[in-house]
Amino acid sequence: MRLGIVVVAAGSGTRLGASEPKAFVSLRGVTLLEHALTAIARLDEEARVVVVAPSIRLDAARDIVDRVLAPGYGSVVRGGTERQDSVAAGIAALAESGEPIDTVLIHDAARALTPTAVFARVAATVRDTSAGVIPALPMVDTVATTDGGDAITGVADRSRLAVLQTPQGFPFAAYREAIAAAEAGHTDDTSVFAAAGHPVVTVAGDEAALKITTPWDLRRAELIADERAL
Ligand code: C5P
Repeated sequence: MRLGIVVVAAGSGTRLGASEPKAFVSLRGVTLLEHALTAIARLDEEARVVVVAPSIRLDAARDIVDRVLAPGYGSVVRGGTERQDSVAAGIAALAESGEPIDTVLIHDAARALTPTAVFARVAATVRDTSAGVIPALPMVDTVATTDGGDAITGVADRSRLAVLQTPQGFPFAAYREAIAAAEAGHTDDTSVFAAAGHPVVTVAGDEAALKITTPWDLRRAELIADERAL
């Protein structure tokens, strides 16, 4: 399999206010992790998938992987303290799988309803460009910088802003080198790749790929799931 996908699902999800780690919260009776893996399972291309899970949910994650992915296509590893640590654990597991992976996609389980087409689009663009690839949407809000308090220090030109989503895609070998050399503190994968001097381009994102962070996000995701079921 030439395509590898790391699904990071090891966050606690405190902002969602749930008793479960976020990826194991139910959206219309199905966990966020299972929604995310279902979209991946629908890809035309075969992919080796590594789910990075919290240590208290490793067995639950394995059950979901076994149910959704074909035998031999998925595995589960333990997450780290920060998202970047979890990504590094997933990349290491992909490397150890021995598959001839050329392209890796890194995806947040919290973006549970990301359509399959977004995964396909990101992977195709990585192969076309050899760049880092990130799905993006235009910014609809006006965004300002502040002094850290109430005072506004500047207003950004909205036409030059984009909202970034996942899956973010990279040539595998170059990404492994970039993450090995990265300093701590990156909250997204593209900045790790860009810090190593590589170009990054965007492709069209999708409203359904929203990151489910707050109870209100979960309500929006439920509406999207209901519409899909119609
Ligand atoms: O915390 P945040 O919403 O930014 O997390 C984004 C994604 O990263 C989620 O899918 C979460 O499960 C994952 N994550 C992780 N390991 C961490 C922190 C976050 O896998 N230590």
